[in-house]
Amino acid sequence: MKVLEAPFVKGFIRVADDGWLQGWHERNGGNLSYRMRPEEVESVREELVPRKWEPIGTEVPLLGGEYFLVTGSGRYMRNAVIDPEDTFCIIELDPAGAHYRILWGLSKGGRPTSELPTHLMNHEVKVRVTGGKHRVIYHAHPANIVALTYVLPLTDEVFTRELWEMETECPIVFPDGIGVVPWMVPGGREIAVETSKLMEKYDVALWAHHGLFCSGDTFDQTFGLMHTVEKAAEILVKVLSMAPKKRQTIEPEGFREVAKAFHVTVPERFLYEKED
Ligand code: 13P
Ligand code: ZN
Repeated sequence: MKVLEAPFVKGFIRVADDGWLQGWHERNGGNLSYRMRPEEVESVREELVPRKWEPIGTEVPLLGGEYFLVTGSGRYMRNAVIDPEDTFCIIELDPAGAHYRILWGLSKGGRPTSELPTHLMNHEVKVRVTGGKHRVIYHAHPANIVALTYVLPLTDEVFTRELWEMETECPIVFPDGIGVVPWMVPGGREIAVETSKLMEKYDVALWAHHGLFCSGDTFDQTFGLMHTVEKAAEILVKVLSMAPKKRQTIEPEGFREVAKAFHVTVPERFLYEKED
């Protein structure tokens, strides 16, 4: 099968285009990666031609020998539909998980996203904690959640609780909460280490004054998670713009009832009492 005919590639392109249409990917902002199944690698093997091995910039030994679909550095999500061959690539990792080589794509040259260390370190954590269920890591720059990093305290507890209060569905969609990384220089191993620590317990990691990383098992679920968090952030921005204080909201007991009704566990540390 041709790479561009493969269902997982079509799913990847759809996320890139949907994210662009949401306004989350100005210029080359954001990046996307997908850990391929062995049968998906075999299905497109005819088109895979190895290029040079390059250092990843970190080590992901658990992912040695795995194949990924990943967007290119400096490439635009808005071009994923019209120029997929030059927007993303398929890479293979060496057995040690220290080097990658491109096998398809980035037809005009270049390299995978500058956030490859964060993507791969997140994948490695998720392979371990989900038993391989999660396959998608998605980074975007949605405006409302980024805006909130200028006005709310940068703690997991406050961001989780404030977002949960904005939509009854939130504690069902991300019951583990969201983690916050303070502002750091992007594109390297240091921010990758901090983000992947949060991915041990969360599926959402927020980079202050930058953007969001989401992890999930399918493209639908991962895109839906990004969409839900940003929608809640949009409502919170509107609420804060209308009044400095909420007149009423969902109370801790309400979250406990939702958790019971929908069979999810919500950690008590997010249900702290607030001062008036
Ligand atoms: P890349 O173009 O290298 O993927 O970088 C975009 C980005 O969002 C960096 O955080
Ligand atoms: Zn970014």
